Amino acid sequence: MVEYQDETKAAYDGIVELYASMFADRLETQPFARAMIGTFAELVRGTGNPRAADVGCGPGHLTAMLHDLGLDAFGVDLSPGMVDHARRAHPALRFDEARMEALPVEDGALGGILAHYSMIHTPPGDLPALLAEQVRVLAPGGLLLVSFFATDGPEPVRFDHKVTPAYSWPVDRFAELLAGAGLVPFARLFHDPASERGFLDAHVLARLPPEGEP
Ligand SMILES: C[S@@+](CC[C@H](N)C(=O)[O-])C[C@H]1O[C@@H](n2cnc3c(N)ncnc32)[C@H](O)[C@@H]1O
Repeated sequence: MVEYQDETKAAYDGIVELYASMFADRLETQPFARAMIGTFAELVRGTGNPRAADVGCGPGHLTAMLHDLGLDAFGVDLSPGMVDHARRAHPALRFDEARMEALPVEDGALGGILAHYSMIHTPPGDLPALLAEQVRVLAPGGLLLVSFFATDGPEPVRFDHKVTPAYSWPVDRFAELLAGAGLVPFARLFHDPASERGFLDAHVLARLPPEGEP
C-alpha cells in the first residue's frame, strides 16, 4: 500500500460513525445521484450479469441500495472500520476489506462497478492503474458509474477535503482517462453542489465494449 492510501485508510477509520451518521441517508436528498444509480442498476441488470461491486463503499448504504435495485451487490473498502460498520449495518450483504487497486475479484466477473466519490483521493498519476483494475474485473459490456467533484479548469485540482486530501476533475479530462482505460463514457450528469464545497457534482457512466466491438 502506498503512503496516501495509508493516510486515507487511517482518516476514514477515524470517522466511521460520524461519516455514517452524516451520509448513510444522504441519497434521500440527492435526486440526481439517485437517478444515475437507478439508471446504472437498470443497465447492469440489462447485461444479464447482475454481479456488481460498490468500490470504496464506506458504510455500505449504496451497496444496500444496489441490492434493493436487484443487483447481486457487494462492497469493498480499504478502511477496516468502514467494512466493520457496513457488515453490522447490512449483515445479509458481503463486504471485503480491500483496495480498489487490487480487487478480490476474478477477471471479467462483474456486470457493474459503482465508484461513488471513492476515486477522489487517488492522485491523478495513479488513476490509470486504478481504472485498469476496474476494467480487469468487468465483463464485456459491463458498466462503471463514477461520481466525483467537477472543476472548470483544464487540470485536476487538489483540495483539502474534510477527511483527507482529494482532487476535483474537469469532466472531459476524467472522461479521457476512462477512454484511455478502454471504457466508453456515454452519459454524464453534472449539477449544482449537493455539498457546501462549491464544486459541481459529476456522474459519468461508462461501458466496457461488448465482445467483438472495438
Ligand atoms: C468519500 S467516501 C465515499 C463512501 C461511499 N461510497 C459514499 O458515497 O458515501 C470514500 C470511501 O472510499 C474509500 N477508499 C478511498 N480510497 C480507496 C481505495 N484505494 N481502495 C478502497 N477504498 C478506498 C474510503 O475508505 C472511503 O470509505
